[in-house]
Amino acid sequence: MRFRELWDEIAPVGRDADSGGYLRYALTAPELRLREWFRAQADLRGMPVSEDGNGNLFAWWGEPDNGDPNTDGRVGTAAVLTGSHLDSVPHGGAYDGPLGVVSAFLAVDELRATGADPVRPVVVAAFVEEEGARFGVPCLGSRLLTGEIDPDRAAGLRDAAGVSFADALGARPAGADPALADRFAAFVELHVEQGRALVDAGAPVGVASAIWPHGRWRFELRGEGNHAGTTRMADRRDPMLTFAFTVLAANKEARLRGAHATVGRVAVEPNATNAVPSTVTCWLDARAATPETLRELVEAVHAKAAERARRDGTELTVTPESATPLVTFDGGLTDRLADLLAAPVLPTGAGHDAGVLAARLPTAMLFVRNPTGVSHSPAESATDDDCAAGVVALARVLEELACR
Ligand code: GLV
Ligand code: MN
Ligand code: MN
Ligand code: MN
Repeated sequence: MRFRELWDEIAPVGRDADSGGYLRYALTAPELRLREWFRAQADLRGMPVSEDGNGNLFAWWGEPDNGDPNTDGRVGTAAVLTGSHLDSVPHGGAYDGPLGVVSAFLAVDELRATGADPVRPVVVAAFVEEEGARFGVPCLGSRLLTGEIDPDRAAGLRDAAGVSFADALGARPAGADPALADRFAAFVELHVEQGRALVDAGAPVGVASAIWPHGRWRFELRGEGNHAGTTRMADRRDPMLTFAFTVLAANKEARLRGAHATVGRVAVEPNATNAVPSTVTCWLDARAATPETLRELVEAVHAKAAERARRDGTELTVTPESATPLVTFDGGLTDRLADLLAAPVLPTGAGHDAGVLAARLPTAMLFVRNPTGVSHSPAESATDDDCAAGVVALARVLEELACR
């Protein structure tokens, strides 16, 4: 087991010295370095790397499939897929994403050390733009691969500097792999836990049951930019007021429903201390246990923001940017892995590529305990011992799925 050794190789990449968090946006220099590291790790293990034309990388232990159907119309032996993502949110933690990729390579080492002889290929994946931190749509790579997003729409998504996804990728994305369900028999993503359920359960590793439905909505509030010193209070059409009220409404409506609502991103025009803003754009991230609760929550926030906009003399436009339905992981697979590992089963409010792939493949997730329970923040954590336990658990799972 070389967890710390391997972990230290990537620890400095994209780390912001001031915050201690990571700036690993998809297809920018730090993430490209991690992709090079991924290729080098695959190379060290004699695992050929294939790309899917969407920015996702796959390292193969076992015959890489060229995707050409055999005479019976199927591609070769379906592989067991594992891995996660290498990108981060702004000033994100070290573990969200890379832990799943590092653990996957180490699980391959572990299996090989025990002389395991898989009857199915084992494939380590790194999915592109999982966080949606650069182009706005989370799980962009897995959504392209499964056909959940149109390649032309994905191609035209732009980052804050106006660079399109197609330009960052160097090509129009290839889109769905029609042979996906033949190529892969199952997907298992290992991920740091993003809450404290495993701390409470006293367990280093857990198995996911479900992902709450969630989505992102862009609220654009337009008023009248004007002078802070000369515009009488009664004469203002200030979108910042509508914004402030919207944030409070989102918090209240979420609490009322046992749901989660967050406004974590805002852009102000012209963003000057001495000007009433002309436009405030903010993004609502909303999540709930059921699709009905999520819909009610977003409708309630929208209605309250619209009512407030009327009072403030501002204009409101709400645009849905991404939606992820409720994901219930394959019950048979989840139970099998929970039994195998004697691990607790828990739901999560966080989105993952596993949630997207679950629509097409038997999919499961393993979580590794996070003592702080904090994620999407530099305070995210996991002990080396728990990470090692995660690797052992993943190796057992891969053995169960690929060697029998
Ligand atoms: C991704 O990590 C998300 O759930 O926002
Ligand atoms: Mn993640
Ligand atoms: Mn994340
Ligand atoms: Mn995620």
